[in-house]
Amino acid sequence: MPLTTPRELFLHELADAMSAEQQILKMLPELQEEARNSEVREALQEHEAETRQQVENIQEVFRQFGETPETTTCLAMQGIAAEHQALHQEEPPPEILEMANLIGAAKTEHYEMAMYAALVQLAKDLGEDDAAQLLQDNLDQEKAMAVRVETLAREMGQQAIGARA
Ligand SMILES: [Fe+2]
Ligand SMILES: [Fe+2]
Repeated sequence: MPLTTPRELFLHELADAMSAEQQILKMLPELQEEARNSEVREALQEHEAETRQQVENIQEVFRQFGETPETTTCLAMQGIAAEHQALHQEEPPPEILEMANLIGAAKTEHYEMAMYAALVQLAKDLGEDDAAQLLQDNLDQEKAMAVRVETLAREMGQQAIGARA
């Protein structure tokens, strides 16, 4: 697909977001399994349901534009997934793995926030207010999840450090 207009860039970024969300859906079950703390597990389970809705919102935006997503791989999310796998090779104890997974989750949410903030702005600039609203819904969920995982990361960190003191 050519990439010469703001509209084409929007569709390109939207396809990238779709790939990011699909990769996240593949990662979440493993992260849920590794979660030792019930609040962490719950947050990840709730976010899986939200992520499915986010994918539907993206599909709806493609429909509104009368387009289908190009096949693409979000390389940033692939990198975050690779970091998660690399960490396993260091064989961290469970409480350290829990902290590392929450840090990885926070990185993911901030990437998604940047992704959706750009898409919301572009949709508005293109005069596509319905699309902007759907993407704003996704952005709001990512922001809430970022706060949630950062809070949990702080709590898990304090517990782990307290247990060693
Ligand atoms: Fe997401
Ligand atoms: Fe997210």
